[in-house]
Amino acid sequence: MAARGVGMLARLPLCAQRSQVLRPTHRLLSCPGTVAADVKREEQSSRNVETGSEGRTPKKKFSEVQKERREQAQRTVLIRCPNKISEKKFLKYLSQHGPINSHFFYESFGLYAVVEFSQKESVTSLQNVTRTPSMETEAAIPFKSRFFNLKMKNPSSQTSEQSCIQSSNHSPPSNKKLSELLCYAESVDDQLNTLLKEFQLTEEDIKLRYLTCSLIEDLAAAYFQDCTVRPFGSSVNSFGKLGCDLDMFLDLDEIGKLSTNKTSGNFLMEFQVKNVPSERIATQKILSVIGECLDHFGPGCVGVQKILNARCPLVRFSHQASGFQCDLTTNNRIALKSSELLYIYGTLDSRVRALVFSIRCWARAHSLTSSIPGSWITNFSLTMMVIFFLQRRSPPILPTLDYLKTLADAEDKCIIEGHNCTFIHDLNRIKPSGNTETLESLLKEFFEYFGNFAFNKNSINIRQGREQNKPESSPLHIQNPFETSLNISKNVNQSQLQKFVDLAQESAWILSQEDKDRPSPSSHQPWGLASLLQPSVLSSVSLAKKKRKKPASERIKNLLESIKSSSPENDTHTNGKRTVSTQA
Ligand code: GTP
Ligand code: MG
Repeated sequence: MAARGVGMLARLPLCAQRSQVLRPTHRLLSCPGTVAADVKREEQSSRNVETGSEGRTPKKKFSEVQKERREQAQRTVLIRCPNKISEKKFLKYLSQHGPINSHFFYESFGLYAVVEFSQKESVTSLQNVTRTPSMETEAAIPFKSRFFNLKMKNPSSQTSEQSCIQSSNHSPPSNKKLSELLCYAESVDDQLNTLLKEFQLTEEDIKLRYLTCSLIEDLAAAYFQDCTVRPFGSSVNSFGKLGCDLDMFLDLDEIGKLSTNKTSGNFLMEFQVKNVPSERIATQKILSVIGECLDHFGPGCVGVQKILNARCPLVRFSHQASGFQCDLTTNNRIALKSSELLYIYGTLDSRVRALVFSIRCWARAHSLTSSIPGSWITNFSLTMMVIFFLQRRSPPILPTLDYLKTLADAEDKCIIEGHNCTFIHDLNRIKPSGNTETLESLLKEFFEYFGNFAFNKNSINIRQGREQNKPESSPLHIQNPFETSLNISKNVNQSQLQKFVDLAQESAWILSQEDKDRPSPSSHQPWGLASLLQPSVLSSVSLAKKKRKKPASERIKNLLESIKSSSPENDTHTNGKRTVSTQA
């Protein structure tokens, strides 16, 4: 579901009080509650692990983060601004409706401002003085939202007072820039951490994601009062890369639940409702109507597609103002649970996110993953593979899901559609790992491990943290952690898996060669992670290896033999026709 994200995202100070424009990385690293701040805390706590220090900074529960962000988004508005505007006057004008907590500007085919008021009432006050535009040739649909258009009353008289808003580009770095940054890093560990810092979602990007969900929620609430639209997937699971899609889930479960508990007396009141033959049909009908609504009335929602016959029905659209490609589903609580589980794994140890980001970038650089659904490995599957690998280290870096279940208390108990989704929510009660392996060693070992994994007979299973016999013949079997009879990588065909294995072997080989002969940083030669991200390097190594009569080392020879020995079975798989499914 990954796709295009915010194009030219340019931000200005988050806090109205701060007049100085700070460089984004500096500002974000010091911003509490951000992913960057989480990373800093994690780094601190992993240092504590090394030094045996007991005092750890408490980490927020997933539900706490979601609640805070959601509440913040409800007090926030999105404003399309004229290209030249006086920031001071703009803030003064808006302050008439109440105090402003924070704001930032960004560019995405025009200048936009995201303004967070201190109180929700300020939004209503602003809406009350906002008019519906009068059109000359077209007709406007008078939909009242929190997405505004700011116009100058008398543009010509104000030109001399306008100060141009300073903006900077916040897209992920270009390949060239990334390669330079990585070449100048001090170590492979440093390279992995640099890549994480460059690609992770920024504070503003996260705010914009929650705000977009909140704007869609306003629309859905026109039909389903008290509904909630929650982000899930990589926007919230701590593994989101700048530009990733925005997965959202229309949660209708809470509607009417509160009132049931409050009723007293001899009677029970229920809403009169329409019944349909199945949950799936209900989902399709709801999404169909919301899709129409987004298409006809949703400000800035374009390219609405209703994909209702998929295993998990969804509405896909672009939110123009934020630049996010959005996938809206409903009745998808298990996916939200998966996001929470990944958030826990990503937050437990600072090495997890660094490794996942690098593996995702490596896979993208070699076209192992794609934004188009197909027979390739997904980012979700890659993340599961990294988690599984980290569970297999000695001592383990990550606990198994079964272990997280044993730590759960009564409040954590969760059964969804008959599936046991219970695990501990409070990260602070999970003991940190005593494993001190470096990122460099983990990266190399990851490639070694999966370059030699018996995919033909074994399944990957993060619930138990050990290989198991494959229950079915798909080339790659990664057990869905909650719906355990399902394979999340059923779509992957044998040739894509083989490509992954080949690249993993090549990458392990490159890293082991580099141990012996690393170029000096001043030579500007790609090294370490930078050389792994260059498709040309891997293909030339592959070519050289194919030409070589005798492999350079016994290990490489064994690797090649293991590929050969698995080919007959591979052919069977490749020839078999399979249906591509992106959801399991
Ligand atoms: P990117 O969008 O690629 O950055 O990663 P993502 O984790 O958001 O993946 P994606 O948008 O494809 O899917 C969103 C979420 O849906 C994932 O995080 C999972 O929770 C869930 N999901 C995705 N694919 C599958 C699948 O094959 N099976 C199941 N059960 N859940 C899936
Ligand atoms: Mg996604």
